[in-house]
Amino acid sequence: MRRKQSFFLLVSLPLLLNAADWDDSRQIERGKGLYAANCTSCHGVRAEGGLRFEGRRSPPALNGKGHVTHHSPETLLAHIRKGGTKRGEWMPAFEMRLDSKEQKAVLAYLYSLWPRKTWSRYEKKFPLKSMKESR
Ligand code: HEC
Repeated sequence: MRRKQSFFLLVSLPLLLNAADWDDSRQIERGKGLYAANCTSCHGVRAEGGLRFEGRRSPPALNGKGHVTHHSPETLLAHIRKGGTKRGEWMPAFEMRLDSKEQKAVLAYLYSLWPRKTWSRYEKKFPLKSMKESR
């Protein structure tokens, strides 16, 4: 019995450790500040989504209560980097304003706002790599 338990630990520990940095409170705090400075004006103070502006598509909610949960971490990071202008949408690109660590910290902050149930479904669908490995 004991042997079985330690086997389980050995197998699952690296998986747990891998993605643990997304939960790191310092990353989340850092992301919160970056979000406030760069994203609030469009996506809302608590990422609840913004208003339609001059007939354009309204900035979606990023707090886990909308479509955002259907996108992989890679897709979300790419959207932050490149924005939507190349596809005829209007979110500006942030790759010149936020480096890749900052982009991930913002995403970590957004994840921290998601309801737990949504989060556990998301993690099953898109097992998170550690921040260092993610792109
Ligand atoms: C000028 C307004 C504006 C700003 C500032 C802005 N966004 Fe957006 N964002 C949008 C709009 C509008 C969309 C919908 C698609 C598009 O236009 O690219 C969007 C889409 C997104 C998406 C894709 C969501 C999905 O469900 O597909 C993510 C992720 C995102 N924004 C994150 C951010 C983050 C993080 C910041 C700050 C670093 C930010 N946005 C700043 C307007 C904005």
